[in-house]
Amino acid sequence: MRNKNDIILLKLGGSLLTDKNKPFSLREDVIKISIQQLISANEKVILIHGGGSFGHPLAKKYSILEGLDASIQNQILGLTKTHQAMTKLNSHLVKLFLEQNYPTLSIQPSSIFMKDSEKIITTSIDIIETSLDLNIMPILYGDIILDKQGSFSILSGDQLILELCKYLTRYHISKVIFTMETDGIYVNDDQSSENCILATECYSNDLERLKLANLGQKIDVTGGIQGKFNVIKQICDYNIPVQLINGLKDDYIYKSLKNQKIECTNILIR
Ligand code: IPE
Repeated sequence: MRNKNDIILLKLGGSLLTDKNKPFSLREDVIKISIQQLISANEKVILIHGGGSFGHPLAKKYSILEGLDASIQNQILGLTKTHQAMTKLNSHLVKLFLEQNYPTLSIQPSSIFMKDSEKIITTSIDIIETSLDLNIMPILYGDIILDKQGSFSILSGDQLILELCKYLTRYHISKVIFTMETDGIYVNDDQSSENCILATECYSNDLERLKLANLGQKIDVTGGIQGKFNVIKQICDYNIPVQLINGLKDDYIYKSLKNQKIECTNILIR
């Protein structure tokens, strides 16, 4: 049974929402269907979305992840362009929720999080918790992040989830769902290193032993599946189960939010 303070963190991956091969291209149908499922499920959720072809190409062009570099022409302008591209994608999503009369509040991660000697800090978690109190769904996204030491980087949607796991206190995260355009995490088959299979169920204490299959990603500046996997291990350290699902499959977002059975990767706590 759900507790009244239970919430779910749902990440809609950028590769699902956008066409990663074409800069600034939305996958309108996928976005609409995803939003519809979220609204129908009517669960208490914090929505986090990725950058896809909005954030990644600019972040890559200006090496934003690596921080301030005077040798890169117009890098500061590129930093603000990267942020702007993300707000554009975010505004599109917020507009669609509003059209369905579903209350959301867009919260800019770059305005509430900072980096301080490699640590990500915030004093504004109240804004998110108070939105939830008011039954407003907070929407956050992968963004740029400024660094107290005078530089900057990228705060990916995945890393952001980890920070929410760390900082949310008044709400209990019952699970984290990563919505992607694949069925979950693929691992190398024990029998043959050529074949890979979907890891459907694994326990947090087995994660270290999994051999991830390399499925190759081109424009992802934030580490692709290996980066996600590292974040997942840390989420599990907070005793929060994680589910990786295919957002292109019929009603999977709805079913996952409703804890119905689907073919995906489930990472359980042990
Ligand atoms: C990337 O966020 C944000 C920027 C590049 C500014 P994510 O790393 O969470 O995006 P996806 O989901 O991989 O596209």
